[in-house]
Amino acid sequence: MAKFALQILICCLSAAIVMLSCPAMSQEVEDESEFSYDVESETGPLHWGDIKPEWHSCKNGSMQSPIDLLNERVQIVSHLGALQMNYKPSNATLKNRGHDIMLELHDNSSYLQINGTKYVLKQFHWHSPSEHTIEGRRLDLELHMVHETPSGSQAAVIGMLFKTGRPDPLLSSLTNHLEAISNSTEAEIAVGVIDPGLIRIGRTQYYRYNGSLTTPPCTENVPWTIVREVRSVSKEQIELLRGSVHDDSDTNARPLQPINNRIVKFNKPQEYQH
Ligand SMILES: *[C@@H]1O[C@H](CO)[C@@H](O)[C@H](O)[C@H]1NC(C)=O
Ligand SMILES: *[C@@H]1O[C@H](CO)[C@@H](O)[C@H](O)[C@H]1NC(C)=O
Ligand SMILES: *[C@@H]1O[C@H](CO)[C@@H](O)[C@H](O)[C@H]1NC(C)=O
Ligand SMILES: *[C@@H]1O[C@H](CO)[C@@H](O)[C@H](O)[C@H]1NC(C)=O
Ligand SMILES: *[C@@H]1O[C@H](CO)[C@@H](O)[C@H](O)[C@H]1NC(C)=O
Ligand SMILES: *[C@@H]1O[C@H](CO)[C@@H](O)[C@H](O)[C@H]1NC(C)=O
Repeated sequence: MAKFALQILICCLSAAIVMLSCPAMSQEVEDESEFSYDVESETGPLHWGDIKPEWHSCKNGSMQSPIDLLNERVQIVSHLGALQMNYKPSNATLKNRGHDIMLELHDNSSYLQINGTKYVLKQFHWHSPSEHTIEGRRLDLELHMVHETPSGSQAAVIGMLFKTGRPDPLLSSLTNHLEAISNSTEAEIAVGVIDPGLIRIGRTQYYRYNGSLTTPPCTENVPWTIVREVRSVSKEQIELLRGSVHDDSDTNARPLQPINNRIVKFNKPQEYQH
């Protein structure tokens, strides 16, 4: 009797393991995920604003992100100052959200200050290819560092662009964890303490404009910072991040949004202007 029960248990366990690692799981995710990046789909980016009433900004907003950073349109300024980031080591969790991979920080000790307002660093996530384009050109990857005011009412995002080349050190330090969750939606894993201060971010030259979240609910009035310096990431790292995107498109970049009458500033300190 006991032996029989044990056999059933082993059988169930192996079935569970097979299910967890089975790529066919991605089929179900289409229904589970509330939105997708497949432009042909009814849950795709052209319809996000119709899916839920509270996602209306995705459709009727006028300051949406991402946009093209066309150099002719950009106003060069030198008064915005170096980015004021104060980042500290923090416990973090890596999550597969079905439409992207997110690294969530567990304390509120890191922050970004813009013009006197303090925005707490909450999470990083990655889009591939890049969402913002430079003179119409998409790069291979874009990292979003999402900050929020303590009340949670307003977000501020720093974007970093990457092109394929040498591996990115932050992603390298997360390789094993990324492999563990890449193919399973909703999976999450504690990664211990990470130090966002180790990310080399060029602080003096950046684009700044007023935009929105690039995923539903597409909330507006988000001050965007896109760091000028383009960094590198390996092809394998992009593949790992793409494993999380469970729709036919395999990519997770929202299409470009109209600029309308917004001004994009490019902060370039005087000493760099010739
Ligand atoms: C967008 O749609 C929502 C819901 O229909 C409405 O409350 C809001 O006023 C609209 N905003 C604009 C700018 O049209
Ligand atoms: C990080 O989280 C783990 C598990 O949640 C906990 O055991 C550990 O004490 C935390 N470390 C720090 C520095 O907060
Ligand atoms: C971080 O801030 C949020 C929002 O203000 C709060 O809900 C949360 O408890 C804070 N977390 C910690 C660890 O202090
Ligand atoms: C910074 O804040 C001041 C006062 O709150 C405001 O007058 C100014 O327009 C703001 N500057 C920017 C670039 O938002
Ligand atoms: C994820 O699934 C894809 C397609 O089935 C496979 O090629 C890839 O090796 C898997 N990645 C991991 C980390 O298991
Ligand atoms: C961004 O746009 C909103 C809505 O028009 C406005 O209230 C806010 O002051 C703007 N922020 C900046 C930094 O220009």
